[in-house]
Amino acid sequence: MSKEAPTIIATPNHSVFTTNNGNPVDDNQNSMTAGEFGPILLQDFHLLDKLRHFDQERIPERVVHAKGGGAHGYFEVTADMSNLTSAKFLSTPGTKTPIFARFSTVGGEKGSSDSARDPRGFALKFYTEEGNWDMVGNNTPVFFIRDPLKFPDFIHTQKRNPQTNLKDADAYWDFLSLVPESLHQVAILFSNRGTPFSFRHMDGFSSHALKLVNKEGVAHLVKWHFKTDQGIKNHSDEEALELNGTNPDSNVEDLFCAIERGEFPSWTVYLQVMKEEDAAHYRWNVFDVTKVWPHGDYPLQKIGKMVLNKNPKNYFAEVEQAAFSPAHMVPGIDVTNDKMLQGRLFSYIDTHRHRLGANYLQLPINQPYRSTVVHHQRDGPMTFSENFNGLPNYEPQSRDPKGPHQQLEDIRAKMSKVRLEGTTGRFSPRQSKSFKPEDDFVQPGDLYRLMKGKEQDDLVKNIVAHIKNVKDQTIVKRQIALFNKADPEWGRRVQKGLDAIKKSQLPKSSPTPPPPHREERVHEQLNE
Ligand code: HEM
Repeated sequence: MSKEAPTIIATPNHSVFTTNNGNPVDDNQNSMTAGEFGPILLQDFHLLDKLRHFDQERIPERVVHAKGGGAHGYFEVTADMSNLTSAKFLSTPGTKTPIFARFSTVGGEKGSSDSARDPRGFALKFYTEEGNWDMVGNNTPVFFIRDPLKFPDFIHTQKRNPQTNLKDADAYWDFLSLVPESLHQVAILFSNRGTPFSFRHMDGFSSHALKLVNKEGVAHLVKWHFKTDQGIKNHSDEEALELNGTNPDSNVEDLFCAIERGEFPSWTVYLQVMKEEDAAHYRWNVFDVTKVWPHGDYPLQKIGKMVLNKNPKNYFAEVEQAAFSPAHMVPGIDVTNDKMLQGRLFSYIDTHRHRLGANYLQLPINQPYRSTVVHHQRDGPMTFSENFNGLPNYEPQSRDPKGPHQQLEDIRAKMSKVRLEGTTGRFSPRQSKSFKPEDDFVQPGDLYRLMKGKEQDDLVKNIVAHIKNVKDQTIVKRQIALFNKADPEWGRRVQKGLDAIKKSQLPKSSPTPPPPHREERVHEQLNE
């Protein structure tokens, strides 16, 4: 870990208070006025500049994953991976690479609760000597949808209703019940894994198949798994609901405080590795992010360790301004034909420009500071590098033999080659010859049956507690039909839970004591 992480404007340790342009301030309590009781003067730069800066303190929050916490640490590769990848940071066991991690909820706003039922983002930035690699995953191995065209619609169903500005259970389940491939993620999300005890107590996944490419240009498909060394620990629905009110920042607080105490969370890192040629014959479309590769077929191979051992010094500079993108790759790691991943390659670098500006990669937290960055991009708002001084800003050029130039042979040899053929079109997986009608229900059904006793009870209870808020009963019926297709018992139990609620709401003939809190009532009935 050679070079130091960059800082642009260091924090001074002396205490003379200044204006933003460096003048000493004589009075930070009283605005400058015309006479003792007169109006404020336009020439009071200190006041005007202070107000202006305050007015512009907020940047757009992330459109998804707005609420989160982060920390610095390192990744250590523990296996010889040179047969799989030419990526330098993965080539020699014992090599440590500095990382920055950000964990987040997905649907809520920046001030929303950490204990919301939601997947958790698991984003890692690896500062390697060949540039930054971002692993932008979740704490779930699958996702709700498999085509990026559906992403904005899906997210809209979790945001606020355009008329009422309220969360809208009908919109949420309407969408899910019409998108059967979401069922696998629904099964995970409505288990207690949807409300992790803390960021330290959850696993992380690339979810997508990525590629590793070795020196010979041979590619393997891989899925990344980060298994928590703290052990999985989750909140029950009741605990999560309570925390919503009592400590909405529980996960951000837990991570920060654990690191302050010197309890550094760690994860053991594994890969599932598939030969590229196996993909064509596998039972599942390996690029469908709604499916896992069962471990029986592709066992986990241990390759490293990740440790978080340093808190950010400033939340905004480091956590809020961190910009992760699945498009930030390094030689030896490559993309695949996973459609969702392809959509993401565009979306993040686009949103970073909206959220942080054209030069977001010059911000200290995002700088690929362990590699040397040289290119022909120039200028733009907030250029706070030397802007490459007088280096040529075009190519081909003959003026400066030392000017940056492309390295064809070296890099190209390491790139994977993809053979493509066919006609353009909008292809639904359901119309594909290899797609079987039961395909979207096998893995969720297996997962339901894998859950035992209380785990299964909690899954049903958590679903009922949420879906009971849906007003349109055709939506509920459609969603129960999906549960039935995965496992008839699953559908039956959800229906039973809902029926019990309805029954309890029928008017009673004799006067009864006031009903308990709504959530308590659902839980009581399900436990009957
Ligand atoms: C954040 C888009 C699917 C994981 C974001 C952001 C956008 C976005 C616009 C905000 C980024 C920012 O402001 O810095 C999309 C699109 C998707 C998609 C268009 C599908 C086509 C996924 C999937 C995963 C994922 C499948 C996980 C496997 C994350 C994470 C973050 C994020 C972890 C937060 C990064 C951070 O901590 O700053 N996504 N996303 N997204 N997304 Fe996605």
